[in-house]
Amino acid sequence: MGTAEMIEDEQDIAKLDVTPDLPGGSKPLDLPILQGTMGPSVLDIRKVYAETDCFTFDPGFTSTASCESKITFIDGDKGVLLHRGYPIEELAEQSSFLEVASLLIEGDLPTQSQYDAFVNDITHHSMLHEQLRGFYDGFRRDAHPMAIMVGVVGALSAFYHDSLDISDEKQRIIASHRLVAKMPTLAAMAYKYSMGQPFVYPRNDLSYSENLLHMMFSMPTEEYKVDPVLARALDKILILHADHEQNASTSTVRLAGSSGANPFACIAAGIACLWGPAHGGANEAVLNMLEEIGHKDRIPEFIKRAKDKDDPFRLMGFGHRVYKNYDPRAQVLHNTCKEVLSVLGHQDDPLLELAQELEKIALEDPYFIEKKLYPNVDFYSGIIFKAMGIPTSMFTVLFAVARTVGWIAQWKEMMEDPSQRIGRPRQLYTGHTPRSFVERAKR
Ligand code: SDX
Repeated sequence: MGTAEMIEDEQDIAKLDVTPDLPGGSKPLDLPILQGTMGPSVLDIRKVYAETDCFTFDPGFTSTASCESKITFIDGDKGVLLHRGYPIEELAEQSSFLEVASLLIEGDLPTQSQYDAFVNDITHHSMLHEQLRGFYDGFRRDAHPMAIMVGVVGALSAFYHDSLDISDEKQRIIASHRLVAKMPTLAAMAYKYSMGQPFVYPRNDLSYSENLLHMMFSMPTEEYKVDPVLARALDKILILHADHEQNASTSTVRLAGSSGANPFACIAAGIACLWGPAHGGANEAVLNMLEEIGHKDRIPEFIKRAKDKDDPFRLMGFGHRVYKNYDPRAQVLHNTCKEVLSVLGHQDDPLLELAQELEKIALEDPYFIEKKLYPNVDFYSGIIFKAMGIPTSMFTVLFAVARTVGWIAQWKEMMEDPSQRIGRPRQLYTGHTPRSFVERAKR
């Protein structure tokens, strides 16, 4: 095997001096070590292929930094989540979703006039081109709302031609604000369509979260009063889901954007990736799992299944690629869950009791302790959504509404990075070596 040691060269740039045993013979290789403001340093391997004729290999990117970013920092061991340096717990308790959106997209907490201008712009982009309503009629009423969202968000690029030129900063800003503003309207329409109820237009006198509840639950037959406690709880949930570093869906948006695809197409790609039950689809899967468990007496049976390597079942809402300690968002959501349920008079909600019992048992089990599997952001969000009367199939849609802000912020950062180029990973090829075609009659 080769040798490796950290060296400091004359410019005081740390380097890792490795001498790998390569097929062509050992050869010294200097890997610059880049240090960020927080978190692990990175080995700059951009020259490895040119200098060694070897690729690096990291399926699932467990040890690979795909980009440089200033937006979100996670310390998985300490359960820390910062957005532009601000702890998620403080933002959830003291900020609003649109203020966090401005923070993530623009880079700092807005002044009052900046905040007012941002809110005004988002508010006045919440309507949709009227012809977009026709897209919904093409879906079956029982279509999963995430299937609808993938379709209609991608379709926005067929309507807003004045914000497709990604080389024009003004068009990038308009497209970004349109996406943040229209996601609640599109999401509420997907819900109304599934219910067979008429679509409800947004109202400019309501806040972002009030409007989302209004568009989902108001009916033409009577006045709908938004419950301020539910609106605040929803706003907090949106904050907790806004961004999360280079997760699967954000990486999807960045990769799509690296080809020059328009922002509507990139966000549609992010929505498609978020839908997976290992990612944003987990909140829906948690509720389905709790309902399948049904009673706390059956918890040991499901814990046993989760530990069985031959059983594909996993305890949904548990575990995380980065958090090897409590997901700080889950803690805030647990508290919010209790608040919402008590306001709604569901404090004895059997699902919450079952979830708390499951969490208690799982966290005492050596398997979960050893593998550091704690509840993640998806564990409690579904219980709150259900208590608010939101159907399970809409949970990931609401996650997508929130994460659109993070996807846009990350996409913008990438588009403004002068060094950005198309993402094009390589592979370790283990297929057939060259062979000649054989006629079918001779196979
Ligand atoms: C989100 O990346 C993000 O930031 C995502 C997210 C965001 O905000 O964007 O935080 C949102 O997606 C949260 C995660 C929601 N998903 C779930 O709740 C689904 C259940 N969780 C697992 O599928 C899993 O924990 C993942 C996908 C979340 C993480 O998978 P990893 O990092 O690839 O970990 P792994 O699959 O390699 O698991 C390590 C070990 C394995 O056992 P061994 O092979 O080492 O013996 O832990 C086991 C796994 O079998 N394990 C579980 C488990 N999660 C991991 N065993 C039982 N139940 C689980 N939930």
